[in-house]
Amino acid sequence: MDLATRYMGLPLRNPLIASASPLTGELDALRRLEDAEAGAVVLPSIFEEQIRAEQDRWERLTAAGADSFPEALTYLPDPGAYRVGPDRYLELIREAVRAVDLPILASLNGVTSEGWISYAKGIEEAGADGLELNIYFFPTDLGEDGQALEERYLQVVRAVRAQVSIPLAVKLLPAFSSLGNIARRMVEAGAQALVLFNRFYQPRIDIAQLRLVDDLALSSRNETRLPLFWIQALRGRLDVSLAASTGVESEQEVIQYLLAGADAVMTTSALLRDGIPQMKRLVGGLRDWLERHGFASADAIRGLLSRDRLAKAAPTARARYIDILQRYPDAEDGQPTAGSPAP
Ligand SMILES: Cc1cc2nc3c(=O)[nH]c(=O)nc-3n(C[C@H](O)[C@H](O)[C@H](O)COP(=O)(O)O)c2cc1C
Repeated sequence: MDLATRYMGLPLRNPLIASASPLTGELDALRRLEDAEAGAVVLPSIFEEQIRAEQDRWERLTAAGADSFPEALTYLPDPGAYRVGPDRYLELIREAVRAVDLPILASLNGVTSEGWISYAKGIEEAGADGLELNIYFFPTDLGEDGQALEERYLQVVRAVRAQVSIPLAVKLLPAFSSLGNIARRMVEAGAQALVLFNRFYQPRIDIAQLRLVDDLALSSRNETRLPLFWIQALRGRLDVSLAASTGVESEQEVIQYLLAGADAVMTTSALLRDGIPQMKRLVGGLRDWLERHGFASADAIRGLLSRDRLAKAAPTARARYIDILQRYPDAEDGQPTAGSPAP
């Protein structure tokens, strides 16, 4: 069975990628992910705030004379505020590249295109095979319109692109008014891959204690539908790799994402919930399913149900939407959409 995959120009032994989380920041876990047949790993993010704090620290230290050194030290940001500092992160990349024979993608998480971006060069020099850019910006300023916000995103992508020559992925939030258009412009700005989607971390309210709670709920398979929709819609229409991210619990979601048109499928929650051996079950489950259904490779199903492939026969998204609403409750058992290839 041939599961070989190309993701943003990188050869992967299969399409399964362990996405960014604290798990991928441990060398031992990386080795176990390699044994569990992961196709690639994304290291946890280094954040703009961490890089800036380090840069500020250096500026203060170098601006201050040797005599005032002890005093300058009192300005240092709390070193315990972040898990891993910028220097240690580069060391993690070097160690990861040495420890495993898998593509190592570093992750840069920021919202501005200012000086800190030059850090991306260090990521490339440390040996990362690719870079994933997570622009996680909360547009709470009521004065900033959508166009300005999109331009802000694009500027970050262009600025990072200018720093590195390794493949660049952009992890997108689904909250753009014209997602296809911003996806296209991300590609024009230099992205070789789009990761659909970044997951919003939203608060809940504890009504007993009357407080906001910022906890982190792991995802479930119910959350695959939005990324599925957009992967299905974008496949074959942009010169870019597509990675599905969010909601993988079992091989079923992996297969659905590939059928929709994902080049690679990422998972974090499943690994945190079920442990690293879940990676092996996902890869094995995909392999078994392909065999049972007479497919010789992962490529053979990739995009089989994409909009691009179904275009002539399939109804428009709006026609499907009207149909779903009007067929309820019949639509609950999920009628196959006209234009689907026979199973
Ligand atoms: C504990 C935890 C830490 C995470 N840390 C990062 C991170 O550092 N950078 C990042 O881009 N995404 C991070 N993510 C998001 C995941 O990479 C992934 O995009 C998200 O969990 C959705 O995928 P899933 O449904 O497979 O969990 C984190 C997720 C979790 C649960």
